[in-house]
Amino acid sequence: MADRLMVRAKAVEALSEDEARLELGWLAAEIARHADAYYQDDAPLVDDATYDALVQRNDALEARWPALKRADSPSGQVGAAPAVRFAKLAHAAPMLSLDNAFSTDDVAEFLARIRRFLSLGDDVELALTAEPKIDGLSLNLRYEDGLLIQAATRGDGEVGEDVTANVRTVADIPERLAGDPPALIEVRGEVYLGRADFAALNAAQAASGGKTFANPRNAAAGALRQLDPAITASRPLRFFAYGWGAAASLPADSQTGMLAAFRAYGLPVNLRHALCRSLDELMAFYSALEADRASLDYDIDGVVYKVDRLDWRARLGELARSPRWAIAHKFAAEKALTRLLAIEVQVGRTGVLTPVAKLEPVTVGGVVVSNATLHNEDEIARKDVRIGDLVRIQRAGDVIPQVIEVVDDGERAGRPAFAFPHACPKCGSHAVREPGEAARRCTGGLVCPAQRIERLRHFVSRAALDIDGMGEKQVEEFVGLEWVATPADLFRLAAHREALLQRKGWKQKSADNLLAAIEARRSVPFDRFLYALGIRHVGEVTARDLARRYGDFDAFRTAMQAAQDPASAELAELQAIDGIGPKVAAALVAFFGEPNDVKIVDDLLGELDVAPLVWEVKASAIAGKTLVFTGTLVQMSRDEAKARAESLGAKVSGSISAKTDLVVAGPGAGSKLKKAQELGVAVIDEAGWLALLGEG
Ligand code: IVH
Repeated sequence: MADRLMVRAKAVEALSEDEARLELGWLAAEIARHADAYYQDDAPLVDDATYDALVQRNDALEARWPALKRADSPSGQVGAAPAVRFAKLAHAAPMLSLDNAFSTDDVAEFLARIRRFLSLGDDVELALTAEPKIDGLSLNLRYEDGLLIQAATRGDGEVGEDVTANVRTVADIPERLAGDPPALIEVRGEVYLGRADFAALNAAQAASGGKTFANPRNAAAGALRQLDPAITASRPLRFFAYGWGAAASLPADSQTGMLAAFRAYGLPVNLRHALCRSLDELMAFYSALEADRASLDYDIDGVVYKVDRLDWRARLGELARSPRWAIAHKFAAEKALTRLLAIEVQVGRTGVLTPVAKLEPVTVGGVVVSNATLHNEDEIARKDVRIGDLVRIQRAGDVIPQVIEVVDDGERAGRPAFAFPHACPKCGSHAVREPGEAARRCTGGLVCPAQRIERLRHFVSRAALDIDGMGEKQVEEFVGLEWVATPADLFRLAAHREALLQRKGWKQKSADNLLAAIEARRSVPFDRFLYALGIRHVGEVTARDLARRYGDFDAFRTAMQAAQDPASAELAELQAIDGIGPKVAAALVAFFGEPNDVKIVDDLLGELDVAPLVWEVKASAIAGKTLVFTGTLVQMSRDEAKARAESLGAKVSGSISAKTDLVVAGPGAGSKLKKAQELGVAVIDEAGWLALLGEG
């Protein structure tokens, strides 16, 4: 079925079995994460189409490699396990989900499958109902002798949450069924919030400082899961009945008959349903509903087609997750035409420049849109988006609206192509693009206001300057007060001590402790200092490698300045260092070539000393020896073990030879260990290694 959303994934047929196993593991975790966000937290992380694509990819992989299906495979599960605070209720009949169709072809295939399964000849009419797919939450309402006795959410399909008390407050749901219902009938349907009610609820929430919701579905979920039914009662939840679970008997033998019976019982039924006798009729219903979608007072995300005859349904039966007799035909993302007024380039916390389209406000799917993402520089060039253009935008689920294409209005030639800035719009520093990367980034990390908080947080973090008592919260507070804009400002915080004491949450002790922790960092080791600068691609290990190679910061800096010349010996030397690739070298050269960054470093050097790295060569047991590490180490990384060995004067080699003095072998050691044994080289395990370091 439709795999249009998986264009970037490798084709299923092209995967090796190992790749498939790995991907299935990833999919199980990823789908579970999104299902939890959606069902447990009412806060989806991705739009429905993206989620559907993950589920379909999982199905496709399992179909190709049935043996690789995991015990926790998402294909056998519906939604998420119930949230904990409501009592659990096992469903008398499982609450299934629906398979999805995204195109006419998908629906044609669905019909053909049914015909094949039932062996229906071409002359036999196959009638299906078409109903709006309401974007709410499904409920199971249990009526015994016509009285509502229990209401449950879907949960994982087997076990849901008991929300009876809350459901009793929903005016649309009768306490007692009218007419002559069977002794037992479970009515299933969708509880939802109307768009106008949703807007009013959000406005009221915002006015009272409460939580606002991303969409009506999340608001409905929030309203239903209130521990206090009085709150649910204050939110105008509504309901449409469209199905059933356990029943003593059924009042009709078709879906249309059941919907009519529900109406007679006093249950709300969506009147916009129809009986369709061909693919054309289904498609006509679909198109008409899609055209009216924006004008409905409730969110819908497609059309559900169901075989009308219940005897045929019984024969068709169900798969693990969904019945064979129904399918959800999803709507494409909602689109609209509008004018591009400007392109604003925004700078994110990590320095990435993102172009945002400023639009003439337009309504898309009931929401007024005036901003849309343009993704990146290449996207603008590819679509040749120019300011003043007529553009088509789309909005799918909760995702940020996107500009999908430019519509020629005959006046494009007069508009200049958009020139993506090569300087950061926030701080003016160079904005560069690394080979192979889509994003252009600001290089003025430490000066750029957009990146200030992120960079300062990094600067004070454990592996960098390690300033005790200084975390993200404090960084945000001091930046907000404009006491701190650059790292050097931290060392001038003492000037604000009196003002700090006036602030909520600060006492003499906490303030003085923090100031003392800052003072204690007036001297920092070279490697930590370098790491703290937050130069792209310069992590702890690289900072240590560089510190060891250059010894002191002044020498390093002089070399980096000289390395600005592409023909310089300094650049060649930098690139020749083990572990320094072209990316790291380019990032270092860019940093020390950016006057804004150099100014920040100078400013810092006025406040602190960078201590040269001293690698003491101890007269240790391994000084002068050649070591080889093999297998896995638990207590420290290979990199750290290597650095420690070298700091003790040993030479670390990657291969075993007659010159090897000692092998440190962890679990999983293979051929190297064997070779060492053959050559009679001494072998110790990790415990022995730690003992050598005096840490055993
Ligand atoms: S029938 C066994 N009809 O869509 C299938 N479902 O994606 C039972 N939904 O779990 C579902 N409108 O929450 C059906 N007219 C409709 C629906 C509908 C919305 C929801 C329902 C279901 C989900 C599947």
